[in-house]
Formats: sequence, C-alpha cells, structure tokens
Amino acid sequence: MGAGERNTEAGNVPAHVAIIMDGNGRWARARGRSRQEGHQAGTENIRQIIRGFADRGIGCLTFYAFSTENWNRPGEEVDALMHLLGEVIEREVGELHRQGLRVVHLGSLEELNADLRKRITDSIALTESNTGMTVAIAFNYGARAEIVRALRRIMEVGIPAGQIDEALVSSYLDTAGLPDPDLVIRTAGELRLSNFLLWQAAYAEFYSTPTLWPDFGPNDIDEALEEYRRRRRRFGGLHPSEMGGAVPAVSEA
Ligand code: IPE
Ligand code: IPE
Ligand code: MG
Repeated sequence: MGAGERNTEAGNVPAHVAIIMDGNGRWARARGRSRQEGHQAGTENIRQIIRGFADRGIGCLTFYAFSTENWNRPGEEVDALMHLLGEVIEREVGELHRQGLRVVHLGSLEELNADLRKRITDSIALTESNTGMTVAIAFNYGARAEIVRALRRIMEVGIPAGQIDEALVSSYLDTAGLPDPDLVIRTAGELRLSNFLLWQAAYAEFYSTPTLWPDFGPNDIDEALEEYRRRRRRFGGLHPSEMGGAVPAVSEA
C-alpha cells in the first residue's frame, strides 16, 4: 500500500481509543495463580498505559473494566474486582489530576456500594475542569443497558418522536460529549465486543492482539496505533484513493 492510499496521514492518531481489557484469568492460570491475582496484575500497568496513550496524543481513552454481565461471575471474584477499582482510584487519581487528566464514568453507579460510588463521583468532581486526556472508566457498563437508560430519559423528559435523531440519542448516552471511538482494542485474542459501546463503535476500527491484558505495554500501544494508521476508513463511502479517474468526486445528479 502506497502512502497516498492510506486513510490517515503519517502521525494521525485516533481521537478516542477504547480498550476491552481481557485475559487476566488466562494470565493467572498460566502461572498457577488465582483469578484475583490475575486481576491485581491487570491493574499494575494502568499508569503506564494511560501515560503512553496521553503521550501519543490520544484525546480520550476508555477502559472496559467491568461489564453488566460480569455480575455472573462468582461472588468472590466480583468482590475482588470492586475492591480493585477502589484501590486503583485511590492510588492513581491524585496523579491523573496533577497531570491535568479528566476522569469520567460510563455505566450505572446504582448497583455499586456506597464507598465505591463515592470514590468514583469524587474522582469525577476533582478532575472535572481538567483539559488533558479524558480517561473513561466503563465499570458496571453494558451497551444495551446504556441504550435502555437513554431511551427512558428521552421518554421521561417528553421529547416528541419526530425530534429524536442520532445526535439526540448520542447526547443521552453515558458518552455524551465524547467523540465516538475510532479504535477499539481487545486483548487476549478474542474477536467480539461483549456488549461494549455498541452504538458508539458503529465505525470504529477493531484491533485484537493475543497479548494478555497484564502483559500489555508500550510496544502494544505502538503496534495498535500503527495498525490503525494502515487502515482505510470508508464510513460507507469511498476512500479518497478510490475516487480518482472517471468517477467524479461529487455526483451532480
Ligand atoms: C478481563 O479478564 C477482566 C474482566 C473481564 C473484568 P478476564 O477475567 O475476562 O480474563 P479471562 O478472559 O478469564 O482470561
Ligand atoms: C469483557 O470481557 C468485559 C470486560 C473486559 C470488562 P469478558 O471476559 O467478560 O467477555 P466474554 O465473557 O469473554 O465475552
Ligand atoms: Mg475474559
């Protein structure tokens, strides 16, 4: 592929990268450790990953940390995941704030315990006016539940059917105000979305890496962004490199 055929110019980076952090369990199993230890290991690279994406000019970085379906896991594992999020917030948010990053939450806070809820809402409040990269934590997030919540709110405020369009629906989702993800990364080799950003990722580029989440590092960031640069995004139309010759750029019909 020649440089002219690329969809993006050299140096072009996605505005929003969303990561499905998967493979903590497999990472632990390979080491004869408990799943909980795998999840713990999966929090240790967080600071480096956030820094890595921020340094590469990403505007928004979303982490899928707990899905609405993850409640189906054993109680012990669910408790460990809740506890770990509290710890990560405790450990990282002060530093994120010093670096001018903004924290937002995607999903429902309702089912979370009061302490975790407070940690999340405090982090959001603390970092609200920061202008650096936005870090979105998708925790107790499911895209279908998010869409249902949005529809309910739209109905509750009495918006007439004729006024409902795509922009309006977007503005009632948890991601209101954030750009749609350009790149969805999934670790541990799986090739599915698992109820993640179903509306927003309509035209996202999907990148899967065999790397297990606790092993994900700066080289994996570079590989994902390099792969993104090679993709040709068409959004249902034609790529500029495909519109030469006899085909007019804009139809006059
Ligand atoms: C991802 O790792 C973490 C969460 C889904 C919370 P997994 O726990 O899904 O790891 P695997 O898929 O069992 O390896
Ligand atoms: C997706 O991973 C959810 C998160 C990363 C939080 P899962 O491991 O839960 O997904 P499935 O069950 O393999 O689809
Ligand atoms: Mg998994």
